[in-house]
Amino acid sequence: MADALTRFHNRYAGASHEVFGRATRDDGRSSYAWLADHAPPGRILDLACGDGALAEQVVVRGRAVEGLDRNAAELACARERLPGVALHEGDARDLPFPDGSFDGVLSHMALMLIPDGDRVAAEIRRVCQPGGTVAGVVGDGLDRENPLVMDVMPAMHTVLDEADLRIDYPHERWTVEDLARRFPGAAIAEERFRIAQAVPLESFDRFLGLHFYGFGLLEGAFRETADAIARDIGARHAVDGAVRWSGLVRGFTAVLP
Ligand SMILES: C[S@@+](CC[C@H](N)C(=O)[O-])C[C@H]1O[C@@H](n2cnc3c(N)ncnc32)[C@H](O)[C@@H]1O
Repeated sequence: MADALTRFHNRYAGASHEVFGRATRDDGRSSYAWLADHAPPGRILDLACGDGALAEQVVVRGRAVEGLDRNAAELACARERLPGVALHEGDARDLPFPDGSFDGVLSHMALMLIPDGDRVAAEIRRVCQPGGTVAGVVGDGLDRENPLVMDVMPAMHTVLDEADLRIDYPHERWTVEDLARRFPGAAIAEERFRIAQAVPLESFDRFLGLHFYGFGLLEGAFRETADAIARDIGARHAVDGAVRWSGLVRGFTAVLP
């Protein structure tokens, strides 16, 4: 059977964009826009591009872009969004590009999911020109200051435990220390920020299913229980028919020597 991440992306292609596309920082930018603003001039690779939402933002900024993802369903969405853009099916640990193909490699909400970060970084370094920019956005944990998040997550995890559904992914961290080791001599910067959005109460159960691999893969009675929990807890926190969801992310840039 396909691994959980593949099953999720086959079932919900475009989910990441649906979840993160409407979430904004205090300055009004989404995490996609923040990342695209760090694209250097020239040719950019959107690594683990999903449905191409980041690549689209890079195109809007006048850069030439290519995308790569291992999931065919996500790439089908990306092809609809970005006709004429080269989109490749492949693995971030074994990139199908010659050395120095890109001036920048960007990746949104994917690097923490891919095993063997050292190997991914070595491939990024190989396909990026000297002086090029590597930039990423990765998850940085729950927003513990948001009472809705802190109410709903433990309750949902109880359902996951009952369903015995565990989603194992490597949680590769891509810290500043990791970056310094993986990209020797690079100028490294990091920014941690919150992204937040109003989610209509009537779609909060669906939203949680799209946001978290485990919740999305719950089936049958477990799914019904999870949806009911989302609706009940959501209703307690809703203001004017919507709940405020927020999460923490970490953005980084590494300008190669
Ligand atoms: C959370 S989604 C993010 C998608 C997109 N970057 C976005 O933010 O909208 C993670 C993506 O990483 C892709 N992925 C996971 N492992 C991969 C690998 N080893 N090589 C390439 N892509 C991978 C998945 O197929 C999925 O599209």
